[in-house]
Amino acid sequence: MKFFIDTGDVAEIREAQAQGIIDGVTTNPSLVAKTGRKYKDVVTEICEIVDGPISAEVLSTDLEGMLREGRAWAKVHRNIVVKIPLIPDGLKAVRILKQEGTRCNVTLCFSPSQAILAAKAGAAYISPFIGRLDDVSETGMDLIEKIVTIYNNYTFDTEVLVASVRNPTHVVDAAMLGADVCTVPWSVLQQLIKHPLTDVGLKKFIEDGKKIPV
Ligand code: E4P
Repeated sequence: MKFFIDTGDVAEIREAQAQGIIDGVTTNPSLVAKTGRKYKDVVTEICEIVDGPISAEVLSTDLEGMLREGRAWAKVHRNIVVKIPLIPDGLKAVRILKQEGTRCNVTLCFSPSQAILAAKAGAAYISPFIGRLDDVSETGMDLIEKIVTIYNNYTFDTEVLVASVRNPTHVVDAAMLGADVCTVPWSVLQQLIKHPLTDVGLKKFIEDGKKIPV
């Protein structure tokens, strides 16, 4: 499973990149707004840090606007993946941008039927938001299982990009289901490495190491 980091904070991206654990980056308007920086400046800097798919989202919701923004994003860097919302004009934009050679990440997916349509339109990635489903008393991971099964039943090459990840269990469950990608906030990436027995074991090794004659 590939790991993307889900953030607009370049310091977090640099740290994760140094650990060698990320294959790409996803951003969204909410994440970039937190930085106080211009969206294009943030994405341009991210492209200099990570050599992998970098998702940058359109803000328009009409076809012409999404195409205009998508084409502008595609010119920023060859690694840009244009993030398009799962609405009818969004599907049209995905189809056209794909024909022009631009990959799209279809975002705000909350149902298997939406995922089928995104794949039919030619999405490179589908982003089901599992945490937000959990938030409304649905089981987000059930959606991942259904989409993985459906895509495997046919010849869709759309990758399942698990989004709205909130905890390490989400990551492990997504991997068990065979999801292609998990996009993970920095806080959860840090949680993934932690285990109390690692800390206890390391402390003991350090103490015992001092008892070894030199
Ligand atoms: C990623 O592509 C999504 O924008 C992000 O994972 C949404 O996460 P949230 O539901 O925690 O805002």
